[in-house]
Amino acid sequence: MLNKKVSDLLNEQINKELYSGYLYLDMNNYFDKRGLAGFANWYMIQAMEERDHAMLIYKYMQNNDCPIVLNAIAKPDKKYTKDMDVLKAGLEHEEYVTA
Ligand SMILES: [Fe+2]
Repeated sequence: MLNKKVSDLLNEQINKELYSGYLYLDMNNYFDKRGLAGFANWYMIQAMEERDHAMLIYKYMQNNDCPIVLNAIAKPDKKYTKDMDVLKAGLEHEEYVTA
């Protein structure tokens, strides 16, 4: 059993990883609508990677008999008007969630 502080932080990180997946799905959808299949595919791969990160932490917590709390995942709400804005937002988010 992990201590509560570690457990709380890991639960938060699961949520952040799943939110990241949602955000990258939103970016996938933006590029899909723009007809930019390569960019869309890249963001789909990122979304699946973020889900994998969440599942690694989730399984680690289960293996350590740690209580898992699945909180609501926030809705990605940014509206993009330029392709470059999506790339910048993705980089900013990645820097945030990695920190
Ligand atoms: Fe991640």
